[in-house]
Amino acid sequence: MQKSGSNETVAARSAESGPVTVRELAYGDLPEVISIENRSFGGPWSPGMFVSEMSKESTLALAAERNGRVLAYLVLSRYDAAWHLMNVAVAPEHRRARLATLLIHKAFAQIGQDAPVTLEVRPSNRAAIALYEEFGFRSYGHRKAYYPDNGEDALIMWRGNPATAGVPPGAAEA
Ligand SMILES: CC(C)(COP(=O)(O)OP(=O)(O)OC[C@H]1O[C@@H](n2cnc3c(N)ncnc32)[C@H](O)[C@@H]1OP(=O)(O)O)[C@@H](O)C(=O)NCCC(=O)NCCS
Repeated sequence: MQKSGSNETVAARSAESGPVTVRELAYGDLPEVISIENRSFGGPWSPGMFVSEMSKESTLALAAERNGRVLAYLVLSRYDAAWHLMNVAVAPEHRRARLATLLIHKAFAQIGQDAPVTLEVRPSNRAAIALYEEFGFRSYGHRKAYYPDNGEDALIMWRGNPATAGVPPGAAEA
């Protein structure tokens, strides 16, 4: 997959000054990424998990930065016919500034607006679900006891028709 080489400057809402730039996530960003990751998730990814995903040809990984600091990141990977939104997180002090919206918008522009995309999210994560619904994601069943840290089910969401990615109705209810 052709990764983003562009350094597109955009306006995201924020109290801090300076433009936000979206660019490809680099291995050198991982110390900042891991800091955000550990403050964002009960079961955070390890550095090795980031390296593993980022090293795949079919992964699109983006960073949003301001003044050389990573504020947010996204990892989107293609498996078979569908893209999977594997990870998206924003530094706690920079949330509600539309940074996640910006990253998802940029990523979807790169893979094509009609490409089917799926993800798993904790049903308790109302912020993320509201964000995904803004992009047209809809619920498509649950995965039982998906999260090892607390045994919570995952809500499966799809953007676009899962059937176009070869997923039959009800297949996600396992
Ligand atoms: C979920 C997360 C990525 C959202 O990032 P963000 O940059 O703050 O989101 P945005 O500012 O782009 O929000 C876009 C919309 O999503 C919804 N939203 C975002 N955060 C919300 C919250 N805390 N409560 C309710 N709705 C929320 C709103 O509709 C919001 O639009 P609005 O601000 O105009 O009302 C961020 O809260 C985060 O990093 N959480 C921890 C990691 C995580 O849960 N990642 C998702 C894993 S599946």
